Amino acid sequence: DFVCPIEADLYEAVMEHLRLTFFWEEPLNVCVSLCEAPGSGHPKLEAVCLDTLQDGLSIVALSDGKVVGCALNGSQSRQQLDEAIKQTYAETDKKFRSIFSMLYDNNRDIDLYTKYDVHDIFECRILSVDPDYRGKGIARILLDQSIQEARLRGFKLFKVDATSAISQRICRSRSLTLEHEILYADHLDPDTGKPAFVPPPPHYGLQIYSRLFEKE
Ligand code: ACO
Repeated sequence: DFVCPIEADLYEAVMEHLRLTFFWEEPLNVCVSLCEAPGSGHPKLEAVCLDTLQDGLSIVALSDGKVVGCALNGSQSRQQLDEAIKQTYAETDKKFRSIFSMLYDNNRDIDLYTKYDVHDIFECRILSVDPDYRGKGIARILLDQSIQEARLRGFKLFKVDATSAISQRICRSRSLTLEHEILYADHLDPDTGKPAFVPPPPHYGLQIYSRLFEKE
């Protein structure tokens, strides 16, 4: 078993893993029924994942050559965030829009770029582990390696948008700083006036965590 950077030859195997796990099981994807079945995929989420993979900052966990987990990491500037918000508001897929507008709006509101005076943020966007390999600390290792990667690449700020109670627990166990929290019950769908996301327990809100690297 080992953990290494994701090179282009692994993109398809990583995407296949994500279609079967994260796409199907991440709490907000579940709430809006983003995908029809495990493995069925979602073209727009796949585009976000491929774009993120191409930043060259992502990490995979392999067991006998099989992808059993991954951390998809990307770099985002304030300008890129503003552009992503513009594109998301124009998005016609309501399910996809509801998830990404919530994530982007909260990030714009807390504006970590100004708070920490940074141009680019290293973002851990997706943490995913194969159900048969869960509870063994693989996500924790992927997060630790991602923090290490951010530091080595010279980023000043590492950030995770944690939508799941389990990823939140992992962030706390790594002593990341809680920057922001919203309860899903308080995030209303503008069309219905009701909560946009009603996930199954133990998931109850979005938490944004960070790690600031001090100058060495
Ligand atoms: N219920 C409660 N606690 C759990 C569960 C569970 N089902 N699974 C793991 N944990 C706990 C572990 O006990 C451990 O806690 P501890 O350190 O206090 O002992 C902690 O969570 C970390 O466990 P890991 O073994 O490192 O996590 P794992 O490798 O099982 O992967 C993950 C966790 C990635 C969240 C996995 O459950 C998954 O792929 N879920 C579906 C996709 C998803 O929701 N991803 C996160 C969305 S947020 C984001 O991507 C940034």
